[in-house]
Amino acid sequence: MSPPILPALEDELGDVLEKAMRRARLTEEALAVRCGVAAARIRDAVDYRSDLCGDELRRLAAALGLNEVGLCALGAGRYPLPEIGALPFCIRPLRMPHGIGVANAYLVGPCGADHAVLFDTGAGMRALAEVWPADIQKLDAVFLTHVEAEHAGGLCEVVARFNVTAAFVPGGAVAPCGMPLGEAEQREFGKIKVTAFATPGHAAAHNCYLVTVPSTPAATGVLISGDLLFAGSVGGAHFSQEQLQANLRRMLGAVPPGTVIAPGHGPLTTVENELRFNPFAV
Ligand SMILES: [Fe+2]
Repeated sequence: MSPPILPALEDELGDVLEKAMRRARLTEEALAVRCGVAAARIRDAVDYRSDLCGDELRRLAAALGLNEVGLCALGAGRYPLPEIGALPFCIRPLRMPHGIGVANAYLVGPCGADHAVLFDTGAGMRALAEVWPADIQKLDAVFLTHVEAEHAGGLCEVVARFNVTAAFVPGGAVAPCGMPLGEAEQREFGKIKVTAFATPGHAAAHNCYLVTVPSTPAATGVLISGDLLFAGSVGGAHFSQEQLQANLRRMLGAVPPGTVIAPGHGPLTTVENELRFNPFAV
């Protein structure tokens, strides 16, 4: 049997370099002086025309404080992704085209059941309907990671369509159909427990959610990471660079290494994989 086709990474080398330069508050010229790689070659890489060699990537990683192995893997188009093992529930990514990219929502629930918990709602009910599995008829709850059009556009429609009484948004978010949920607050739905972590950085109001099954504490959990963290990259620090970086480190240390990460864009990964390779996780 051929292996499943994985969705593309959210960020390429050029995106990662651009985000890292913004984090370090360095222009291409200043970075060139610092690492000895010509500014024109850095600019080409940022513009997706990279032919940087391994030595140049290593010098860029050192100058920008990035994970060298991960940056070189991205540069070679071979960022490693882990195999996703058994989970104590079923998670179904709902991948929806948005603009030039793809935004993810997730359904998490007992395997084979007709109900689940929905994390993020895509751009709207129409986008969700295109990818909605026919067997999911009821929603136990909806959780938003942050209120941006590609992740939260359908919240009120979803609440109305499924008659949802438990819809949660990060504390401080402006969302008419959701109740605020802050740091360490928990909700349980059958065997599934959802724990909220307030993780501002990409947005002022942003939550990650850890999904676990308390009755099987050794089983792998899932971290719904929104736009804090992607496989091989991080979200844009539109609210606070410092808080995004601090929350990235905090979350990668707060959950077991085997925890599966389900990001707002791109493929599934694990905490262990991102601790080893994510350019920003240093
Ligand atoms: Fe996003």
